[in-house]
Amino acid sequence: MKNSTTQLLDAAQKIQQNAYAPYSKFKVGAAILANDNQVYTGCNIENASYPLGQCAEAGAIAAMIAAGTTHIDEVLVISPNDDICPPCGGCRQKLREFGDSNTIIHMATAKGEIQSINLAELLPLAFEKSNLLDE
Ligand code: THU
Repeated sequence: MKNSTTQLLDAAQKIQQNAYAPYSKFKVGAAILANDNQVYTGCNIENASYPLGQCAEAGAIAAMIAAGTTHIDEVLVISPNDDICPPCGGCRQKLREFGDSNTIIHMATAKGEIQSINLAELLPLAFEKSNLLDE
């Protein structure tokens, strides 16, 4: 495994422990390697009002943006079980905002088995800035 992948796995495993998931019991951790070479992490945060819950990826993106960095080189998402946790549809779109076609998405099981694909594969025909009307 590449050094950077091990670093992301460690960081995601650590933040996963802090996930607040009393309703689904499905704790997720996410770690972003940004183009400033720093790692930003997030975990899912659920709410008694279910739709207000936030995914782990959104938390990691928020930490990256708050630090003043806007490009995702790689992201790792870790599930709490033996299956991978492929990012949900909304998170694919959020990752696309700050990634590019070559951004790598690593999906890890609780045991640390990893499948990796790029963002072009994860979200083909993405809606993005360039689709908006010119001003
Ligand atoms: N979840 C994530 O954190 N990321 C995903 O990409 C998929 C789902 C969380 C949301 C919710 O707290 C729990 O997993 C079960 O859906």
